[in-house]
Amino acid sequence: MRLHRIEPLIEADALSARVRDLAMQISVDYQGRDLLVVGILKGAFVFCADLLRNLHGLRTQVDFIACSSYGVATETSGVVRILKDLNEPVTGREVLLVEDIVDTGLTLQYLQAHLHRQHPRSLRTAVLLDKPYRRQVSVQVDYRGFEIPDVFVVGYGIDWAEHYRHLPYIGVVRFLND
Ligand code: IMP
Repeated sequence: MRLHRIEPLIEADALSARVRDLAMQISVDYQGRDLLVVGILKGAFVFCADLLRNLHGLRTQVDFIACSSYGVATETSGVVRILKDLNEPVTGREVLLVEDIVDTGLTLQYLQAHLHRQHPRSLRTAVLLDKPYRRQVSVQVDYRGFEIPDVFVVGYGIDWAEHYRHLPYIGVVRFLND
């Protein structure tokens, strides 16, 4: 692992306040309805759990889909692979896809198309972090937590080569000796 340090970018308090705001908006939009929340593993597992615990006034089910595009590098390969598909049927359901980060947009584009092919009644997407600077494809994002600069981040479920998912805040990986 290259020599590095982690520099805080979004503190835990700011994360929970923003996640509560997003959950409130989602609760209003889906009031009284049934919602299938689909978390994208592994990076969105903390965001997804916090979002769910702040939803009120709707019936929810949860499922997870796992995919990979980064391997152990900090650059996307652009090739998305589904490692674990959904257990719940999506056809005719109101679906909320929950992602940690949108960067090039390739992962979300792939997964949205994958879900659309199964004819959900509706499909919306919630993303915690938006890195708009390297977008290659335009993707629909309905609920957005924070826009951040083009930096490599970890924490709150997000990893660098499987490290740092446990951090309660979002931090930037700063490489030393570069
Ligand atoms: P995209 O396909 O380029 O939009 O990348 C989205 C995926 O890459 C997300 O699911 C993240 O898991 C991962 N990713 C993008 N930026 C970062 C980062 O700064 N740190 C860790 N993972 C990232």
